[in-house]
Amino acid sequence: MTALAVEGLTVSAGATDLVRGVDLAVEPGRTLGLVGESGSGKSMTALAVMGLLPDAIHLRSGSVRVDGRDVVPLPESERRTVRGARVGMIYQEPMTALNPLMRVGPQIVEGLTAHGMAAQAARARAAETLERVGLPVDRALRAYPHQLSGGMRQRAMIAVAVAPHPRVLIADEPTTALDVTIQRQVIDLVDELRREDGMAVVWITHDLGVVAHIADRTAVMYAGRVVEEGATAELFARPSHPYTAGLLRSLPAHRGAERPPLVQIGGLPPDLAGLPPGCPFAPRCPQRREVCSASEPALLDRGPQRAACHIPPEEWSA
Ligand SMILES: Nc1ncnc2c1ncn2[C@@H]1O[C@H](COP(=O)(O)OP(=O)(O)OP(=O)(O)O)[C@@H](O)[C@H]1O
Ligand SMILES: [Mg+2]
Repeated sequence: MTALAVEGLTVSAGATDLVRGVDLAVEPGRTLGLVGESGSGKSMTALAVMGLLPDAIHLRSGSVRVDGRDVVPLPESERRTVRGARVGMIYQEPMTALNPLMRVGPQIVEGLTAHGMAAQAARARAAETLERVGLPVDRALRAYPHQLSGGMRQRAMIAVAVAPHPRVLIADEPTTALDVTIQRQVIDLVDELRREDGMAVVWITHDLGVVAHIADRTAVMYAGRVVEEGATAELFARPSHPYTAGLLRSLPAHRGAERPPLVQIGGLPPDLAGLPPGCPFAPRCPQRREVCSASEPALLDRGPQRAACHIPPEEWSA
């Protein structure tokens, strides 16, 4: 069964939709890469899935199925159990998730006993999990988060998230602030945990290199919508949305001699509070035509992937 299935997710701040009808699905043991530039709605999507949206922001419509069950209508008490036991999340800043006043061992144990595990089993699971994330077990159990290095804190946060063996792990740019070596270690660690536990992973990042490395499928967000989704290899080889094509052209690996020079996508992301009619990418799109400012394209099958663009790639100008 699909581990995580999001349908028609719309998240709003007042009258402004920040996330607009997003559909996502991740199978057990698979990784979905969620990419898009700053402000495209990646974190809001993740927080809506977790039931952790900030105060002024609400989920306006849509469903979030975890193992087939829609968690949106659940009362907060049950939602908390889903969050603790079924869906975990890791962040760029470990202190978002860790309690600074509590030693790491008891934090992991508390997360397990709160959802019904016996204390002794929870203590054993905590030690086992710290070992799995590559921390020195005895020291980490007793340490306060501030007594650990940045990389170790990152691992401690991952341990808290994966100790209950969640079905889904959402990683929101967890490696952005880390140096390249530690970044790679964290990516490989999550990938290993995914394989061992069969977790579904949603990996949110700006870094298409990371997505190419770990994601089976990739969803590209722009202005609160998914504008392209497909198998990562296909989507990288034959992007079907000009925004995806633009992102790929700015990838370092594509900046070889035979490749076009680095092209940043010109222009600014749109203001969600005043979206013009038509495709929100049109003002920046090298392929735009008249139809593009008339109606917003739906996300439709386009060869092996899905894309929300009026102009099929075979009609694109070079
Ligand atoms: N508290 C808030 N109230 C109103 N709008 C907000 C609030 N927080 C974020 N937004 C807006 O919601 C939209 C989506 O933001 P979100 O944080 O999901 O983007 P993101 O894709 O995660 O970006 P980044 O890559 O920078 O993390 C943005 O337009 C942002 O300005
Ligand atoms: Mg974000």
